[in-house]
Amino acid sequence: MAALAVALAASVVSAQPAAPADQSAEFKRGRMLYIQCRACHDLQPSPVEKVGPNLGGVIGRRAGSAADFAYSPALQASKLVWDEATLDRWLEKPSALAPGNTMAFAGIANAADRAALIRYIVLESAPR
Ligand code: HEC
Repeated sequence: MAALAVALAASVVSAQPAAPADQSAEFKRGRMLYIQCRACHDLQPSPVEKVGPNLGGVIGRRAGSAADFAYSPALQASKLVWDEATLDRWLEKPSALAPGNTMAFAGIANAADRAALIRYIVLESAPR
């Protein structure tokens, strides 16, 4: 009986998705802040089309380059590459970094909140 319980527990654990590597307070804060983005973006490839482009593998990607998404000319022409520094500027005020882009989001003024959100995005958007 005990052996069965152990086997069951092991199968429950292995059924979990690839474990988030980071359970720090900052990561958890980032996950909470990402709730603002979730309606419009997924962080892993998905057949679901949302209002915004899929952000799976976004780090290192040219802005405006996800397949099958109709970007604004403004974002496509921006020549930005998404890394932590460009994401920080984007999330502070998207309209300032790429004027004329169509992401309906005012921005996050608090630098620590942006850092936490970016940490979450970096970990959760990495290819699995
Ligand atoms: C109301 C929907 C909406 C919300 C909310 C939103 N976005 Fe966006 N996002 C968009 C759209 C639409 C674009 C494409 C803009 C364009 O083409 O000009 C975009 C573009 C982006 C891009 C550029 C992706 C690429 O492939 O170049 C990033 C990064 C991004 N959003 C991150 C975020 C994050 C992080 C949040 C939460 C703080 C967020 N977005 C909130 C709709 C949204």
